[in-house]
Amino acid sequence: MTHTHSSGPIGVFDSGYGGLTVLDSIRSLMPQYDYIYLGDNARAPYGTRSFDIVYEFTLQAVKKLFSCGCPLVILGCNTASAKALRTIQQQYLPYNAPDHRVLGVIRPTAEVVGTLSNTMHIGVLATEGTIRSRSYTLEIEKLFPGAVISGQACPMWVPLVENNEFDKPGADYFVQDSIHKLLAQDPLIDTVILGCTHYPLLIDKIRQYMPPGIEIVPQGHYIATSLQDYLHRHPDMERRLTKTATCQYYTSESPAKFRECASLFLKEEVNPQRVTLA
Ligand code: DGL
Repeated sequence: MTHTHSSGPIGVFDSGYGGLTVLDSIRSLMPQYDYIYLGDNARAPYGTRSFDIVYEFTLQAVKKLFSCGCPLVILGCNTASAKALRTIQQQYLPYNAPDHRVLGVIRPTAEVVGTLSNTMHIGVLATEGTIRSRSYTLEIEKLFPGAVISGQACPMWVPLVENNEFDKPGADYFVQDSIHKLLAQDPLIDTVILGCTHYPLLIDKIRQYMPPGIEIVPQGHYIATSLQDYLHRHPDMERRLTKTATCQYYTSESPAKFRECASLFLKEEVNPQRVTLA
């Protein structure tokens, strides 16, 4: 057993850059803590990868953040939360790091969405991996029995964001197409979850093509308030979080590339370090 009751930063993991939208929301609400962001940019995207591979890669990243001193890690990635979180919580942590915690982004989003919908017909836009896992459907049905959930994979949306095409005319076709396919599944949908951390960058186009009256739910704010609530309920963990308001960035790809791409997601300059995940 390692790092028993150590104190340190909050770790935020994502397959690539998308988790920066989650980090941004968390830091805006709780700037006092120290943070380490880890992007597995060399192996992103995860959205089309199998369950086993997403689990293996995510566990490697979690172990890296633990070894950097983080007692608490947020999987700021829907795909990793959908495919790896339960197994890490139930099979890895109890035997290998019982004093550490790993939290995801699906449950906090599911908790809030049922309170926003009037029809209880809810749409989810996400990566293929997240939709196929049915994680949102299962979580929402558990919390709000009777809710009707429709999911639509948007395989082109992450590449549009990562290639800096999200505000260009080419993005319009794919945004409109995926929204149309989602709403065609169920005309009673009144609330749509953006179940992928990249999608807030497409928000202007999503608003443009979503019919009026449908509420769009980006996750960042809800994940941040849910984490704040978690820390209130777990003072032992809260005490172990260091509070000097710093943020470090690690990437499995080239730091120069990360610095350039991160500027699309964050207002501040970052100075990332390269790490190897294995
Ligand atoms: N960040 C991932 C998510 O939220 C999307 C990117 C990927 O496919 O790796 O699902």
